[in-house]
Amino acid sequence: AERSSFVVVANRLPVDEVTTPDGERQWRTSPGGLVTALHPVLTEHGGTWIGWAGGTGEAPDPFELEGIRIHPVPLSAEELERYYEGQSNATIWPLYHDAVETPVYKRRWRETYRLVNQRFAEAAAKVADDGATVWVQDYQLQLVPAMLRELRPDLKIGFFLHIPFPPIELFMQMPFRAEVLRGLLGSDLVGFQQRLAAQNFVRLARHLLGLRYEGQSIQVDGRKVKAGAFPISIDTKEMERLAADPKVQARAKEIRAELGDPKTIILGVDRLDYTKGIELRLKAFRELLADGKLKVGDAVMVQVATPSRERVEHYQTLRVKVEREVGRINGEFGRVGVPAVHYLHQSYSKQELAAMYVAADVMMVTPLRDGMNLVAKEYVACRADTGGALVLSEFAGAATELRQSFLCNPHDPDGVKDALLRAVGTEPAELKRRMRVMQRHLRTHDVAQWAQTFLEALEVAAEGREPAP
Ligand code: UDP
Ligand code: G6P
Repeated sequence: AERSSFVVVANRLPVDEVTTPDGERQWRTSPGGLVTALHPVLTEHGGTWIGWAGGTGEAPDPFELEGIRIHPVPLSAEELERYYEGQSNATIWPLYHDAVETPVYKRRWRETYRLVNQRFAEAAAKVADDGATVWVQDYQLQLVPAMLRELRPDLKIGFFLHIPFPPIELFMQMPFRAEVLRGLLGSDLVGFQQRLAAQNFVRLARHLLGLRYEGQSIQVDGRKVKAGAFPISIDTKEMERLAADPKVQARAKEIRAELGDPKTIILGVDRLDYTKGIELRLKAFRELLADGKLKVGDAVMVQVATPSRERVEHYQTLRVKVEREVGRINGEFGRVGVPAVHYLHQSYSKQELAAMYVAADVMMVTPLRDGMNLVAKEYVACRADTGGALVLSEFAGAATELRQSFLCNPHDPDGVKDALLRAVGTEPAELKRRMRVMQRHLRTHDVAQWAQTFLEALEVAAEGREPAP
């Protein structure tokens, strides 16, 4: 097999193999922030991307895509249910997001998680060149670093967690907590979105395994494992280019017209996920309509809720709740031909999203907890000359950087309503000023800079390591 000096291992590939209604197989861009961030990094660097192709059964053969070597890993239907839907998305995802939904624990999910992680580790061991850099991604693959080190001690192994890392008290609830921690400690460098997460991690290593640490460096079996914060970002230039594209500009005008040229378009773009605070955002909008602070026709809300993890129960319940709330708002406040909320349970291309960002006066990003939230950054990058207001939850990683947004506590409905009203009422000149400051930040702190900083730190961390026995 072909070997690579740079290998990314992630549950998701940048493309999913999907079967159309008439039975045709097609490749389609995968959802989510991980793919958005890593795709430009890999196109720039070259290398191999190991991941799941989205279906079940036999994996397609490896192939090239825009200079990336794609190496699919198979999952059976049972593995999909236990490793992906179960352990990854019904246990770890809710637990790491402050347990905003109750995590579910099942022994057989854990067993399958172990087995699938081993498969990813073996795939990486096979395609990585001597001394190669292997960069393992996210919560679905936390056991891979240790498994891979066992197979290939010559490799430089980095891990990046795209989602929050929980405080010790929460992490300690997880039945196979020590195994997960040891899995991560197989890395030379473990990266997080936030400083606090990195701190949680080193303290946990002492608390749970009695390991010694100095600063951000943990001692494990005579090796040093570094932890650090590397806030992820977007391809800012590309997003700015998209927003300036005449086709996108024209489409944005069309969207505004189709919505009846309202004074204020309020936009939300999220995977339909309970961490995103979609319900509370709708509720804030409903109350403002009821209070007479906003008027249907003047203000309209567009909520994109991209289908996600649809067979997981928490997600099914959420969908019912969100759709009921949308129905309630439109029922109470809509008029014939003038709905208050446009609800779109669909997946959109970056072009179409860019047109929506350009069209929207207010962007609402109100997660209860989010590792970063790239949608917030994409909105800012699309508002080069026009201003526009970003309402942003304090509990999104992005809030650390986007300080000129209208920050709010999503747990406080009055706070959310207040932030939205302030956003709607702020002078255009002030909005432009705020946007420019945030944009300047994103131009220097883009995804290429993120990857470079992480990979340089990984080099340093791995060099300092004792030579493999
Ligand atoms: N996205 C997309 N199409 C959609 C919805 C979302 O391409 O229909 C993209 C969006 O542009 C962003 C990413 O998915 O780049 C979502 O990343 P974010 O960090 O906001 O949240 P995540 O889904 O990773 O939790
Ligand atoms: C978040 C996670 C990613 C995941 C994405 C989409 O960004 O951090 O690991 O790929 O959501 O979710 P999905 O389950 O469809 O891959």
